[in-house]
Amino acid sequence: MGRLAVVTGAARGIGLAISRRLVEDGWSVAGCDVLEQDLERASAELGDAFSPWPLDVTSEAAVGETAAGIESRLGPVFGLVNNAGITRDGLLMRMSIEDWDRVVAVNLTGSFLMCRAFSRGMLRQKEGSIVNISSVVALLGAAGQANYASTKAGLLGLTRTLAREFAGRNIRVNAIAPGFIETEMTRELPEKVREDYASRVPLNRMGQPASVAAAVSFLLGDDSSYITGTVIPVDGGLTT
Ligand code: NAI
Repeated sequence: MGRLAVVTGAARGIGLAISRRLVEDGWSVAGCDVLEQDLERASAELGDAFSPWPLDVTSEAAVGETAAGIESRLGPVFGLVNNAGITRDGLLMRMSIEDWDRVVAVNLTGSFLMCRAFSRGMLRQKEGSIVNISSVVALLGAAGQANYASTKAGLLGLTRTLAREFAGRNIRVNAIAPGFIETEMTRELPEKVREDYASRVPLNRMGQPASVAAAVSFLLGDDSSYITGTVIPVDGGLTT
């Protein structure tokens, strides 16, 4: 088995595509998610190189136990992809504190907890690569997504800060800002909204999860060994 990477939100959508690509690249993947059945389905598809780890990334205790469990059962972790994310959209005046807190907890605090738990081993072995999945809304803003856009912008701050903190130990930290990608998350949007978004993309179409996975593959691998603290848009030109 190849080197080990941990992917959150691995059960479906972009996280599943990332796991699939990393397995194709020769990585072993520990896939973390709250959706246990979907994790089992991913495991059946991807075989022995993928191990399912049920985990809610908002729980500090569970993240700590999972890090210890993965390291003792599967060995040292060289890659971490913080991909788990949710939306709870609403215009600011109608946004509840519960919807604000939940999105912060999953998207931002979850990534912080995972970085803290898994960087310990990376610091010891003086090698690692972390990729945080942000969004174009971190750069552009999005009406109705004050909570979501704030967390995705926060992830860029986390990325650049950890890149500086860890650079001396040969741990790289980068982010990807996907645009409008076809997954369960965007399938929930009304058809008209989807068409409107797609028409604003210079490449004039929605992106595929595999295109985000390809960028993750590059950032986790040795071909990007001189790249840290950056954000790569995968957005069909939306932020140009
Ligand atoms: P998705 O909803 O299909 O997948 C998200 C995954 O995260 C799900 O499997 C879900 O169960 C998991 N998850 C949610 N809460 C969790 C928790 N507390 N602990 C562990 N796992 C949890 O969404 P999609 O589209 O695949 O998104 C993946 C990432 O990409 C998210 O961070 C999202 O914000 C980001 N993104 C997606 C875009 C898109 O157009 N689909 C655009 C820009 C960013």
